[in-house]
Amino acid sequence: MNQFFTFEGIDGSGKSTIIDHVATALKQKDCSVVITFEPTDTWLGKYVQHQIKTKSDPFVTAFTFIADRIEHSKKIKEWIDQGNIVLCDRYAESTYAYQSVQLEKTLKNPIKWLQDLSKGRILNPDRTFYFRITPEKALSRIQHRDELIFFEQQSFLRKVHNNYEQICNGDRFIQVDATKTIPDLTELCLAEILSES
Ligand code: TYD
Repeated sequence: MNQFFTFEGIDGSGKSTIIDHVATALKQKDCSVVITFEPTDTWLGKYVQHQIKTKSDPFVTAFTFIADRIEHSKKIKEWIDQGNIVLCDRYAESTYAYQSVQLEKTLKNPIKWLQDLSKGRILNPDRTFYFRITPEKALSRIQHRDELIFFEQQSFLRKVHNNYEQICNGDRFIQVDATKTIPDLTELCLAEILSES
């Protein structure tokens, strides 16, 4: 039985909205669901948020994102063991896609380096929904936000997008067209989760 589903995509891809809709639909079907997200709302996750707002050292940012995830994974494991379906807004691929851009000038193969650091310390999601959208479209959706962080600049986001395109391949990944309507995307994710659970 598959219980652990992660949602990935660039800023503005709409995954958080869809997670909420999917969770509501699952609850209506009497499924036990936990929605969770990264960076987490623990002190470690809040420290990470501070890091990205202040454009801090890329290595410290990478290490703390991974530390936040290792701790978070223990909670996720508990929720899974209790029989819940866990929907997680961002997980390991976010670190590979974003922090590798920050580290590209210092490391030869930052994605591999980040994957090696994480190996054996985090969980393997059963399925990962990858919300595909161009950086231009995604940015036009979030332009109205008061405070855009530097991750949300077009040149940065384009590199993150290219990384996602490279990483999110293989059996675990379900690529979805993030420009589809909210009901369509909800239905698509729901059908996949219910077929697996
Ligand atoms: P998030 O709160 O998911 O932002 P949003 O809801 O706008 O998608 O994530 C905050 C930022 O942190 C976002 O730009 C993505 C980035 N991020 C990383 O760089 N690495 C990571 O490992 C994670 C989980 C997020």
